[in-house]
Amino acid sequence: MVNTPDTAPELFTWEFATDPYPAYAWLREHAPVHWTKLPSGVEAWLVTRYADARQALADGRLSKNPDHHAEDAQGKSRTGIPGERSANLMTHLLNIDPPDHTRLRRLVSKAFTPRRVALFAPRVQELADGLIDGFAGRGEADLIHEFAFPLPIFAICDLLGVPAEDQDDFRDWAGMMIRHGGGPRGGVARSVKKIRAYLAELIHKKRANLSNDLISDLIRASDHGEHLTENEAAAMAFVILFAGFETTINLIGNSAHAFFRNSAQRAVFQDAVDRRDDALLDSAVEELLRFDGPVELATWRYATEALEIGGESIGKGDPVLVVLAAADRDPERFAEPDTLDLSRRDNQHLGYGHGIHYCLGAPLARLEGRTALETLFRRLPDLQLAVDPADLRWRGGLIMRGLRTLPVEFAPEASAS
Ligand code: HEM
Repeated sequence: MVNTPDTAPELFTWEFATDPYPAYAWLREHAPVHWTKLPSGVEAWLVTRYADARQALADGRLSKNPDHHAEDAQGKSRTGIPGERSANLMTHLLNIDPPDHTRLRRLVSKAFTPRRVALFAPRVQELADGLIDGFAGRGEADLIHEFAFPLPIFAICDLLGVPAEDQDDFRDWAGMMIRHGGGPRGGVARSVKKIRAYLAELIHKKRANLSNDLISDLIRASDHGEHLTENEAAAMAFVILFAGFETTINLIGNSAHAFFRNSAQRAVFQDAVDRRDDALLDSAVEELLRFDGPVELATWRYATEALEIGGESIGKGDPVLVVLAAADRDPERFAEPDTLDLSRRDNQHLGYGHGIHYCLGAPLARLEGRTALETLFRRLPDLQLAVDPADLRWRGGLIMRGLRTLPVEFAPEASAS
């Protein structure tokens, strides 16, 4: 049970990064659509109730294009991708509105199909097992750095068609991006530029030698009458990479953390793993996403005209941030919202967003999340936290919610190296 504070909570402090849920409970109750100053100094509306959040996510008057921001006409990156403007990566799904969004989303959906994801399942399993092999004999590990971080980065590289010999570079660039998450620091912008240049070259090479990876399919989709420029293809590959890795790291890390804090539900999960109870394992991943999901706030939106959300007047050009983590704990929508209940029914959480920007990678995220957690708790059933929970550090970025490290210990696997 979350205790709602009596007075207006201070947002974006260290305590808030550790556990934002009491503050969100207060906002939902007393200021459900709340104008606030963010740590960057920019002011924005926070929308915290489920009904308002769902409506806002589907409202066509809220644009994704940063040029609609009243006070920031230079149109800085607001997707959380540092350096994307300077690297010419702005024309991606999370920055654009219909009709451009409709066209690009249709093209990528032809390439990034549920069938492609289903065929990828054995590779994800192999990656999960391979990473666990790396530390299973040691009896201790950092789950973020040794498991949650490399799994999605290698998975997305494989899916896109980044050759094996280049994947370590990708891992380094990606690591640099999340270590400095969101800030416009030189190192991050340099990493983004490196990835951009690499993807542009890869796309160029693949065009001459198409195979059956996602980048080749993106190029093919553009070749069938509809137009996908090389820059759009690079921006698409980039947003898939960017949207797909920190989110999945956090899904694995936040879920393992939730299990360490909820031993009864962990036992339910381990029992489902032993029995290979598909239905429960699938509903468990959805509930973990609702309970402590990777994306705390949906990416930025801007009012293209004056409008109302939850009875509050939003001015033209105002930025609007939909707080998915708050909406998914709304007691008006979920019974006992602060309880982790792996068999929860009617669990229409907003963890993957809603409306036209609904997560493109949800089928892959579900596959990676389930495979990672299932494999981890099957192979290391006595896995436990190696530090006091109070010593865990959360990243504290605006959009994402995730741990910096997650030190664990377990009985070493006898057969592991
Ligand atoms: C969009 C969550 C994994 C690719 C989104 C949005 C959310 C989200 C909330 C909507 C943002 C908004 O409306 O502002 C998640 C979560 C994930 C996950 C919780 C993991 C557990 C992935 C993966 C990929 C991916 C693995 C790709 C490989 C995308 C893309 C968009 C998106 C491309 C933009 C879609 C559009 O604008 O049309 N995701 N995501 N995501 N996601 Fe995911």
